[in-house]
Amino acid sequence: MNISIIGAGRIGLALGAVLADKGHFVLFTDRDSQKLKDLSRGKISFYEPGLKSFLRQNKSRLKWTEDSQEIISSKMIFLTLNLPIKPNGDFDLSGIKDWTHRIIRQTQREKILILKSTVPPGTNRMLQFLAKKAGAPLQVVSCPEFLRQGQALYDIQNPYRSVIAGPSPKINKKVARIYKNFSASPIIFASPETAEIGKLAANSFLALKISFVNLMANLTEYFDTNGEELRRILGSDPRIGHQFLQSGLGFGGSCLPKDLRHLTFQGRRHGISMRLLKEVDALNRQRSEHFFQQIKQRHKNLRNKTYALWGLSFKPGTEDIRLSPSVFLAQKLLETGAHLKIFDPLLKTESSTPLSSILGKKGVKAQITFHKNPLSSLNSAHGLIVGTNWKGLGKIPLKEIKTRLKTPFIVDGRGVFNVKELKKKGFTVYQSGLFRFPN
Ligand code: UGA
Repeated sequence: MNISIIGAGRIGLALGAVLADKGHFVLFTDRDSQKLKDLSRGKISFYEPGLKSFLRQNKSRLKWTEDSQEIISSKMIFLTLNLPIKPNGDFDLSGIKDWTHRIIRQTQREKILILKSTVPPGTNRMLQFLAKKAGAPLQVVSCPEFLRQGQALYDIQNPYRSVIAGPSPKINKKVARIYKNFSASPIIFASPETAEIGKLAANSFLALKISFVNLMANLTEYFDTNGEELRRILGSDPRIGHQFLQSGLGFGGSCLPKDLRHLTFQGRRHGISMRLLKEVDALNRQRSEHFFQQIKQRHKNLRNKTYALWGLSFKPGTEDIRLSPSVFLAQKLLETGAHLKIFDPLLKTESSTPLSSILGKKGVKAQITFHKNPLSSLNSAHGLIVGTNWKGLGKIPLKEIKTRLKTPFIVDGRGVFNVKELKKKGFTVYQSGLFRFPN
């Protein structure tokens, strides 16, 4: 089948690569024509494990085009645009509306528009209304995406569930055919607004879980608790589950914080108190401050202190530093005059705009050096801070770390180290009380 994808970002590319691998012909478009040119040469502007080679393997079934007529000629069109969020917490739907109008204008035969982007409840209904008003045979189906960055290809092929929410069972069935040779995870047929709210609620619930464990972590610092044991006590109850019980610097990225804010906006709009979600957000914001205070308590005057910082991305497996708690902590340290020796395996020191705009402010640049190797970042530093739980960091020999550091001080924001082990080796260590990330 010919399938079009509008928006060659993280979701669009991963989805398109998988669909091409299943034998479909996939047409991509994006408003950024340079991006399309780069993609046609195999260049991707972000990192997603396996994506580059997957696209290369399926090259013969992929096409990059700026011709909207060509895009609109497919019977199935996926919208995978990343919607910006406005200061009031609402989503900016202009990109989605523009494309829908374009499709409506050029549609004579029946087409299915599949909404993959996370959107406010009511978006599907609004787009369907536009099509109906214009007499266009366009059917809008909501199919929210639940993939995680860093595991996108796996998640698309092995989703926990797929949600299909179209105007009729007949249209739903047509869309479900696309998923027929994916893993046997359940397909949930739902109403469009249920699907839209479902996606926002799922991400907000994950955020709530993380803030809850971080709250417990604050409390357990005053008790003689063992993190691993606590995690087993909670997680062994399937009603609670083992995942998302890792305390530390908190959540970041472009999804959890954004969806939380949008649901809060919806509550405000409809007169529902969203204090719970506001608290989830507030607790999360406090995390980087909490870790910063631990460093300050120990070293008092941070001016002219130097720290090795391992990890800037909001989680491992991605170069994405948007709303990364590690970046917030770095900013606080830099503001007080501390110097940072940053190691992150995927960090682009020069070309990445967000990085230079976040850390490269005037006067601050001189306080940062970037390191390709975690060990070299330790040399003569007053301590080590772990900002992201990149694989393998907790396996680096403690002896090596201790020899290189000026003072054996570790602030472990992601629980990669075994505290007992560290203390035995003579380190002063701060690791947020409760649950450790696995190494
Ligand atoms: C999230 C959801 O997990 C996906 O299901 C969803 O599709 C996606 O948003 C989206 O809306 O597109 P993602 O943003 O890639 O995926 O990241 P997560 O793996 O959910 O992690 C989010 C943050 O929580 C990270 O900063 C991570 O370090 C933090 N985290 C995660 C914790 O602090 N503790 C935990 O126990 C788990």
